[in-house]
Amino acid sequence: MHPSCHLTVLILCQVEAGEPWTELSVEKRLDEYRGRQDKYRGRSFNPIVGFGPNGAVIHYKASEATNARINASSLLLIDSGGQYLDGSTDVTRTMHYGEPTDFMRETYTRVLMGVIDLGKVVFKKGATDSRLDILARRHLYEVGLDYLHGTGHGIGVFLQIHEGQNK
Ligand SMILES: *[C@@H]1O[C@H](CO)[C@@H](O)[C@H](O)[C@H]1NC(C)=O
Repeated sequence: MHPSCHLTVLILCQVEAGEPWTELSVEKRLDEYRGRQDKYRGRSFNPIVGFGPNGAVIHYKASEATNARINASSLLLIDSGGQYLDGSTDVTRTMHYGEPTDFMRETYTRVLMGVIDLGKVVFKKGATDSRLDILARRHLYEVGLDYLHGTGHGIGVFLQIHEGQNK
């Protein structure tokens, strides 16, 4: 299982039990878990762990001043990755440890629909990401929503993790 899977289950149990998880403690635990893996050589980028409104801040970096305590009433975004001898990773997960609102369910589902459409598309070699981007956004556009960010990027191997595509 991927280390972030263990961690999200652990947080779920402990948030329910009232344990004081915060954005910074999640970050620290991610490093610890990845650090136990054989081929791990370090972070592939600074993790983004954002709870509630912080999760909507693009490229958010938790600090002592902003560090939110995680509870069961909003969404937790974890975007992190590692450099491994056999590859680099960039994994994003969105969790809710209570009862998501209808709006959270709808937007999460519409984003997921876009991801599935992108995963299924057959495209010609040389198609640029800007040609495929609409597939990811269309289910959001249908209800007047959007996201203020690119849809994807290259990962590379032991590079900067946000690589341009090969043209
Ligand atoms: C949960 O966290 C959010 C965001 O930090 C905060 O606004 C809210 O008051 C918290 N709710 C509870 C029940 O602690």
